[in-house]
Amino acid sequence: MKGIILAGGSGSRLYPITKGISKQLLPIYDKPMIYYPLSVLMLSKIREVLIISNPEYIDFYKKLLGDGSNLGMRFEYKTQEKPKGLADAFIVGEEFIEDDCVCLILGDNVFYGQGFVPKLLSASSLNEGAVIFGYFVPDPSEFGVVEFDESYNVISLEEKPKSPKSHYAVPGLYYYDNSVIQRAKKLKPSSRGEIEITDLNMEYLKDGELKIELLGRGFAWLDTGSYEGLANASNFVQTMQKRTGLFISCIEEIAYRNKWISKDQLVSLGNEFSKTEYGKYLLQIAEEVII
Ligand code: DAU
Repeated sequence: MKGIILAGGSGSRLYPITKGISKQLLPIYDKPMIYYPLSVLMLSKIREVLIISNPEYIDFYKKLLGDGSNLGMRFEYKTQEKPKGLADAFIVGEEFIEDDCVCLILGDNVFYGQGFVPKLLSASSLNEGAVIFGYFVPDPSEFGVVEFDESYNVISLEEKPKSPKSHYAVPGLYYYDNSVIQRAKKLKPSSRGEIEITDLNMEYLKDGELKIELLGRGFAWLDTGSYEGLANASNFVQTMQKRTGLFISCIEEIAYRNKWISKDQLVSLGNEFSKTEYGKYLLQIAEEVII
């Protein structure tokens, strides 16, 4: 399975912060926002990742993440000329995906919680169909909304409904088989002029090929779409890291624990940031005995 991080868009909901910088490069406490979705792909054991952003920002991502070899991964980059919709990722990414299955994660989605990794590994072992997630929120009308029955069969999907049929939002993390490319190409733009991920998921639903996994209580799916959401996400990461002594979405640590890089490589990454708590943490991880 391959991975795509969609890190484009206008960022206009965060102006003036994002007038001169791509939203997904903003800090969430001690690391750039894109580290969080990248860590989710890595925890899914996905090593080949395509990063999509706007033409004016793509070089910033290349500077930040390089070709991925320092993490034992492979990164490719593509530009999206205009925000044509989330499903456009599969059209922009067609050559990268080739004949593989693919996971799409939005560059501004932050996930954290116990029991996440088994769910990710189960979703990333998919060969056919699609897997999406459901997350309880008090007001789901700003999101894709999923309705399901007692056996967790999906009944309906709606994008930003005025009267939501359930309290379950669909977070920006989706796993698909290879038919996603052809399905995306057939979509018609919605009233907001975008090819919608919800319409794509409805195609899988119509064919009886859509599965849902719930992210339960105690699980955090953080919003970064407002000033308040950004500040809260930073505070959340700071509090959790301080209390547990473990870093959230530390990509170098995950690469090491996945055995994609050696201890020496981790030490050299730690030395690069040795003036910071982040670098010191990497050096501390390298000293640990891995169980
Ligand atoms: O966050 C989850 C929600 O994301 C889902 O529940 C919705 O079903 C889905 O449509 C999407 O809703 P939004 O309206 O919040 O998406 P937004 O337009 O804000 O785009 C999400 C991110 O993707 C944002 O960081 C910008 C980026 N993006 C967006 C579009 C439309 C791109 O990189 N390219 C695009 O063409």
